[in-house]
Amino acid sequence: MNDVTTGLLDRPCIIPVEAYTSEAYARAENDKLWPKVWQAACRVEEIPRVGDYVTYDILDESIIVVRTGAETIQAYYNVCLHRGRRLTAGCGHTKQFACRFHGWRWDLNGENALALDREDWGDKLNPDNLRMRQVKVDTWGGWVWVNMDPDCEPLRQWLEPASSMLDPFELEKMRYRWRQWLYFPCNWKTALEAFIESYHVLGTHPELIQWGENIAWSRAEGRHSWHGFSGLRNGPQLKNTGLSGAAGTADQDPRIATPEFLEYLMDTVNATTTDTIIAAARRLVDELPAGTPPEEVSAHMMASAKRDDAARGVIWPEVDPEHMMATGIDWHVFPNTVILHGITFALCYRARPNGYDPDSCIFEVYVLERFPEGQEPETEWVYEPDATEEKWRRILSQDFNNMPEVQKGMKSRGFPGSRPSPVQEKAVTNFHRTLAEYMGTGAPVEIK
Ligand code: FES
Ligand SMILES: [Fe+2]
Repeated sequence: MNDVTTGLLDRPCIIPVEAYTSEAYARAENDKLWPKVWQAACRVEEIPRVGDYVTYDILDESIIVVRTGAETIQAYYNVCLHRGRRLTAGCGHTKQFACRFHGWRWDLNGENALALDREDWGDKLNPDNLRMRQVKVDTWGGWVWVNMDPDCEPLRQWLEPASSMLDPFELEKMRYRWRQWLYFPCNWKTALEAFIESYHVLGTHPELIQWGENIAWSRAEGRHSWHGFSGLRNGPQLKNTGLSGAAGTADQDPRIATPEFLEYLMDTVNATTTDTIIAAARRLVDELPAGTPPEEVSAHMMASAKRDDAARGVIWPEVDPEHMMATGIDWHVFPNTVILHGITFALCYRARPNGYDPDSCIFEVYVLERFPEGQEPETEWVYEPDATEEKWRRILSQDFNNMPEVQKGMKSRGFPGSRPSPVQEKAVTNFHRTLAEYMGTGAPVEIK
């Protein structure tokens, strides 16, 4: 695998705060970043029927993503070509996009179906100049992605190496288990960066280290980055299988530590494992003798969870263990999507600016899982403004505690800029290296 692109990421760098705190920078993103990147607009499952649509808003721009056929999805700028009224808001189902101002209409293919008293314009309105303007659209991993740049590179190419690395996990077969969002008082990058490294676990989630204090590696290739665990701090190197392996420090019995750890995760994150895996973990102590090495505990637990899932119609993808290790636990897909992938589940984040206020963002968290066909839960986006443990559970509320405080701290005269770990936080440095290519400013500077 090709590691890191520039060498810069391997060296200690400082990241200027402008990208987080400057209103001018936030405005410039509207011209230099957002119109030029592929963005995950929604999940394919949100538009199952022809005529189902989702409105994706990014700053001043709004895009309609609509299913036009069993296998076809289109995306259009969300604007009436008469005098500019927005056509849709949120999600819904329609046969035509009808403007509520003067009643002009378009069919799902973007062809104008009605312009009232069209003869008023003589012959100056025609199908070409009345056609809704298209936005590039494609699917990968069960997401619908959009790009406003008509000359953009193909989605698949843009996503590499994330697409090839994550393909074996069959993310497209996962469905929402829950989804929740809020406005958050920090920059969208400050929010996202709380979830693209695990270096913060000891400081932010100290309870988690009772089952082992992981040390992370992090990698970047091109614009995307990912990280995983290499072993325990002050402990042995682990043959860890990402988010689906056994847990426990060297002196714990992994048959007992693993179910404890997974139950704790389910309780405090409501993600990164499944009920099937937890049930298999609970049986470890009865099914395996004391002293079974952690790798065997992992393998046994996963094999029995795989069998249990198969019995209820959830067929696991075949992922080579070496490949699972190489993909780590957490991907930053530039610019604003984070995917923590597991064998039958994923925890995902999306952050967007909330207008041009650099101190505000829209932050979304969602969990995907493989379900037996026909047994997928009905979910919808839940707005939960209260960033507390009660509403977001313990782990996320701990992360939420940091984000506005980082945003405030970065404005201090006493702060020279961020200094991400060149070993464990390459994703943060790579994010800004890539951003700077779009923005023309804000590149990480090596600490000499
Ligand atoms: S603005 Fe849409 S019909 Fe007039
Ligand atoms: Fe965290």
